Amino acid sequence: MNSAHCHPDSQRNPGPDSMPRSPRLRVGLIGAGVMGRQHVGTMKQVPEVELVAVVDPFTSALADAERVPAFTDTGAMLEAVRPDAVLIVNPNELHVPTALECIAAGVPALLEKPVATSLEDARVLLEALRAKPVPILVGHHRRHNPVIARAKEIVAAGLLGRPSLATALWQTKKPDAYYDIAWRREPGAGVMLINLVHETDLLRHLYGEVVEVQAFSANALRGFAVEDTATISLRFESGALGSIVGSDAVASPWGWEKNLNEVPKFAKEYDQPCLLLAGTEGALSLPQLKLWRYGERADWEAPLFQQQLGYQADDPQVLQLRHFVRVARGEVAPLIGVEDAARTIAVIDAARRAARERRSVAPVHA
Ligand SMILES: NC(=O)c1ccc[n+]([C@@H]2O[C@H](COP(=O)([O-])OP(=O)(O)OC[C@H]3O[C@@H](n4cnc5c(N)ncnc54)[C@H](O)[C@@H]3O)[C@@H](O)[C@H]2O)c1
Repeated sequence: MNSAHCHPDSQRNPGPDSMPRSPRLRVGLIGAGVMGRQHVGTMKQVPEVELVAVVDPFTSALADAERVPAFTDTGAMLEAVRPDAVLIVNPNELHVPTALECIAAGVPALLEKPVATSLEDARVLLEALRAKPVPILVGHHRRHNPVIARAKEIVAAGLLGRPSLATALWQTKKPDAYYDIAWRREPGAGVMLINLVHETDLLRHLYGEVVEVQAFSANALRGFAVEDTATISLRFESGALGSIVGSDAVASPWGWEKNLNEVPKFAKEYDQPCLLLAGTEGALSLPQLKLWRYGERADWEAPLFQQQLGYQADDPQVLQLRHFVRVARGEVAPLIGVEDAARTIAVIDAARRAARERRSVAPVHA
């Protein structure tokens, strides 16, 4: 079956065998929606990569604009183009089946989050990787943000004393038209898997593994099958406690995209924090990176002194893609691989069960 759209340039493509070897990483994009287009924009800032094909069963507009062959099917693209690597940016439910095809073909992938929409799917992916290891980087791009690297150093250096509490806020109002796309309203989506998966991943990254979860979720604001609002309580292995409070249907200034300039299209509230870490000796607010500590007297009647810490800002998507080039070439291990990302899915899975069954749940790892 030839499922390539007939783009004039695709007919001029001499095919993989006769092509001169490019020093650049030849990348196929799978999924040409909002995030796929953003990845193509990022690729233009990373000269080590070259877009060589786009797969999307419903549109060839991006392939046409970028003058690369368009395909409607991943398998056909892998066979015809033999890319060095792929970016998997299709709807959540397709992440695992698409990654399995890439693993079978031995093609490294940057796989968008969530790594899987269920623990069972994450297990299938892990088993395939155990049988045939292929480099996969999961697209939790915030981990590449220098502000997160700095926060991790601050926590590890003991500036908070014993890390004891973590509060993550992700609260925004997505436009109703965002939900015109069906998969975003259906199981496999929802604010937990699309958005709070980022907060969950960051809290695991900063505070360690989660051993117990309680949660409430609600769908009353949008009325879809999936939740639009959720509160998740976490107990970490260290004994620290955390909470994630999120919604995609409220008017609020607290949320990563609004408080930090990762995605230019969002209006910003730079003075508002969305991640608050507190320990026995100090507290840190992010993304501002303000450290609060007592002076000589350390109790609730005494003043806390605020210190503005610094970091070198950089675009996490660009840093992620540069890192992926090295991952795909086998030079470094992924900063966040499938096993790590599956632990985040285990926490989300526990939160969903906790909300449904009205009880606390221990995450089961894949
Ligand atoms: N890292 C981030 O911050 C971030 C931000 C947004 C979205 N995402 C993730 O990126 C993915 C895509 O999200 P989006 O908002 O761009 O969705 P979207 O619906 O805008 O785009 C998905 C695209 O995949 C295409 N598609 C459908 N079936 C396909 C198939 N079988 N093969 C190839 N393509 C297929 C659709 O036609 C569509 O063009 C999701 O998994 C989402 O969670 C990540």
